[in-house]
Amino acid sequence: MNLKIALLGGDGVGPEVLAQAVKCLQSVETTFNHHFTFSYALVGAAAIDQTGNPLPDKTLELCKNSDAVLFGAVGTPKYDNDPNAKIRPEDGLLKLRKELTLFSNIRPVKVYTSLIDRSPLKKEIISGVDLIIYRELTGGIYFGEKKMNDAGTVASDLCEYSEKEIGRIAHLAFKAAKNRKEKVTLIDKANILESSRLWRKVVTKISESYPEVTLDFLFIDNAAMQMMLNPSQFDVILTSNMFGDIISEEASVISGSIGLLASASIGSEKAMFEPIHRSYAEAEGKDIANPIAAILSAAMLLEHFGLNEEAHSVHLAVENALNNNVVTPDLNPKSKFGTNYVGDYIANSIVDTDDFLNLNDENIGLGRSTII
Ligand code: IPM
Ligand code: MN
Repeated sequence: MNLKIALLGGDGVGPEVLAQAVKCLQSVETTFNHHFTFSYALVGAAAIDQTGNPLPDKTLELCKNSDAVLFGAVGTPKYDNDPNAKIRPEDGLLKLRKELTLFSNIRPVKVYTSLIDRSPLKKEIISGVDLIIYRELTGGIYFGEKKMNDAGTVASDLCEYSEKEIGRIAHLAFKAAKNRKEKVTLIDKANILESSRLWRKVVTKISESYPEVTLDFLFIDNAAMQMMLNPSQFDVILTSNMFGDIISEEASVISGSIGLLASASIGSEKAMFEPIHRSYAEAEGKDIANPIAAILSAAMLLEHFGLNEEAHSVHLAVENALNNNVVTPDLNPKSKFGTNYVGDYIANSIVDTDDFLNLNDENIGLGRSTII
């Protein structure tokens, strides 16, 4: 398969982790005979510094002309700590999501057996957790009207949702549930927010078309507690932009590190893949950031294009690194392995399992096998 992939490293550790994901995609290219064309472009604070714009036209153009975007991270303390900044690195990411209509952000959370002790949560609570969050990504409070009075003393952010915006992601969540444990949990604040009441109404109506799927409701405050008390109750979580942002970062504690969580942002035409972590500026250039979230985001890219075997080979390579304790310090404080080493290790262990089995079969047939 030929794929044009836009690479937007962004800020902090973004470019470092992205580079490891690219190594893995290149390894998939050679192992499975595909052809990927990579093009780099600026985004975030790096783009503001060079062009004054967190999403330069050239970057947007490249993304629109690519099959997929692989994204690093954006944000720097300079802007985080300046409430008066007129332009922000995050604006680049938000504009990109909006321009490409990436309305659905899909964030899988699971527990790796080899990392079960890495989570601060008890083994019996997290064992077997396998959930997926469908976070609405182009609406809600992130994109509603923002106001500040002239005196700079009163501010507001509007949280607005339409039936259409809710419906399109709800259908994706129900379809996903059909292939999983057939349960959707809608997380909202319908006891307070009118927009949440619309979510309940629309999602309840849509659920009638998916009779095999059970629909559950939880208020976000209760959901945040349930995520720590009994995360195994969740299968597919469906929620709005801001609740999804918060609950997914909380859920990352289950898997042991936010550095493991990947995401896919899917629209009707385009798709972007990005780790859920932010730019982690303190780690920039130190070769300590976990590249796995970026690498698993690349695996989600492969899956999106139906390259399931290829994606599976990336997952196996990641699990191999975890099983052999070839991990960055967030997963093992004593680890001497850095971002690059872990990236190389994973990229080098990507193999076509079919070839591997065939080769062994052949050797066994010829009496040359070393396997006893
Ligand atoms: C995320 C990030 C972004 C968000 C920021 C960087 C704009 O936190 O993808 O979760 O809030 O959506
Ligand atoms: Mn976030």
